[in-house]
Amino acid sequence: VETLRVGVAGLGTVGAALIAQIGKQREAIAARCGRRIEVVAVSARSRNKNRGVDLKKMKWFSDPVELAGFDGIDVFVELMGGSGDPAKTAVEYALASGKSVVTANKALLAKHGFKLAQLAEKAGVALNYEAAVGAAIPVIKTLREGLAGNSINRVYGILNGTCNYILTRMEQEGLSYADCLADAQRLGYAEADPTFDVEGYDTAQKLALLASLAFGTKVDEGAIYVEGISSIAPADLAAADELGYRIKLLGVAVRTGKGIEQRVHPTMVRKDSSIAQVMGVTNAVTIDAEGINPITLVGPGAGGAATASAVLSDIADVARGLKAPPFGRPTGKLVAVQKAPMQRH
Ligand code: HSE
Repeated sequence: VETLRVGVAGLGTVGAALIAQIGKQREAIAARCGRRIEVVAVSARSRNKNRGVDLKKMKWFSDPVELAGFDGIDVFVELMGGSGDPAKTAVEYALASGKSVVTANKALLAKHGFKLAQLAEKAGVALNYEAAVGAAIPVIKTLREGLAGNSINRVYGILNGTCNYILTRMEQEGLSYADCLADAQRLGYAEADPTFDVEGYDTAQKLALLASLAFGTKVDEGAIYVEGISSIAPADLAAADELGYRIKLLGVAVRTGKGIEQRVHPTMVRKDSSIAQVMGVTNAVTIDAEGINPITLVGPGAGGAATASAVLSDIADVARGLKAPPFGRPTGKLVAVQKAPMQRH
């Protein structure tokens, strides 16, 4: 059986972790998927940086778009991030030239996911994005495959590791917001611009993807009410504590009589609820499907190894030959959400 040839654009913490992980898991993946996986080409901003992985046998591209069009690869793995270029053009080019794409780029998909999905369908290739939400938690596969036959009423969760890490340490150690954020950046959890984390936009982008899968809505982060955690003070956490609550940043998408409502905001959650137990960089997603008890997935939501784990599972899906409309065909309707006061959940 032919080897699946992979090109990786972006060699930050996730890219380097992915190459290391493929090195370790090559035989196991071949046994599970029936095909070997090999990274044959890479692209990054700097060629000489020491990333702790051996790139000698891989063809080097200084331009990711050129890598996307390279006919020596079957799968283009986009780990550069950002909703604009070069990520957008590179992904479009890869799809248009008949390559499957695996990406961890929630910003790109939340903005252009509908168009990119159409391109992928037209080309008859896969567009996989398990790593874009909840890092190592297989939540995309759970919604797309595991619950393919269910009607879903609500999806909600803790979708940003940086915010949950900050809130946890502020609450448990009485540390300042600024110190906790600096630690989250040092540990590689935060986005390049941490405003996206703390102001709720990262959560909103992930929620847009989950809502689209769960409810058949067109991916649209612009329809989400968004409020972050930057104005939460230690006094707010203490006040919530006295009342028997914790404050968590939740992303919520829910089916209402009028359509699908999507919102992101700090939420008071009862201390004895399962979502309140989710601490640190951990993410959690609860899916409420018709006729069955809710399903909650909990796991590492950020960091190089956790994200690479999901990217590799997506590459393995390509090796297996799985492909389907990336978000399903849109049937659901979104409703705009007005500003809501701090909610209890
Ligand atoms: N900045 C993100 C987070 C990384 O903190 O959750 C994973 O998407």
